Amino acid sequence: MNYSPLRYPGGKNKLYPLVKLMINRKSNDLTYIEPFVGGGGLALALLYNGDVKKIVINDYDKAIYSVWRAILTETNKFIDLINNTPVTIEEWYHQRSIYLNKNKKYSLELGFATFFLNRTNRSGVLKAGPIGGYSQKGVYKIDCRYNKEQLIKKIIDISKNKNKIKLYNYDIRTFIKKIIPLYKDAFIYFDPPYFNRRGRLSKLTSRTYQNTEFISIYKYGFRLKGIYFISNLYQKYITKII
Ligand SMILES: C[S@@+](CC[C@H](N)C(=O)[O-])C[C@H]1O[C@@H](n2cnc3c(N)ncnc32)[C@H](O)[C@@H]1O
Repeated sequence: MNYSPLRYPGGKNKLYPLVKLMINRKSNDLTYIEPFVGGGGLALALLYNGDVKKIVINDYDKAIYSVWRAILTETNKFIDLINNTPVTIEEWYHQRSIYLNKNKKYSLELGFATFFLNRTNRSGVLKAGPIGGYSQKGVYKIDCRYNKEQLIKKIIDISKNKNKIKLYNYDIRTFIKKIIPLYKDAFIYFDPPYFNRRGRLSKLTSRTYQNTEFISIYKYGFRLKGIYFISNLYQKYITKII
């Protein structure tokens, strides 16, 4: 079951049984921290199933952060937007223009536009085109991943748990230095953007790292006390550092 209202390419909620096992062996009183949260399906599963008491989530991308913040702090307005916004190709252009032009600071509008594109674009990729194509001649149409009722339910569930969810919008280095030390007894799951074939992290983010910067993220990580779990497509980089 994916509890996230966002679709995420390579979303990690499938890792739930493994992470649950790692956490339960330690304690069920841990704070779960996910510095690159994205859709956050895994974090929500751990929280809802009582494996952890609290989740601390972070994403540097203003658009992704805005989805979470809008859901947590402007829940009813967000739900109204879902109910009142038609899922059409005309609306898609409107939401895309908000996403492209108003993405420098938090707003409910940006959060909703990001959510809308995530639900209506191919594979949930924000910069991709709409499901079914611009002329909507495909077999699947733009609204095929947009079940309003189910999405609203997921949003209400997040809101019901908002006192157990702490959200941040820091770059990973700042997050590691300033925020992680605030939490004792934490389990941290790093799931950074993937390397592509040229050794750069993919452009899921507005900030792209080179290999060396990526490695320094892990060096910061390993200097911390606590339990860590890291995933990445290119395991060779991780084993090299460990
Ligand atoms: C691989 S995705 C995480 C997917 C997530 N685990 C899930 O299952 O949905 C990586 C996330 O890191 C965020 N990100 C990219 N660069 C970042 C940075 N420098 N600091 C913090 N977050 C960053 C991206 O916006 C993206 O949402």
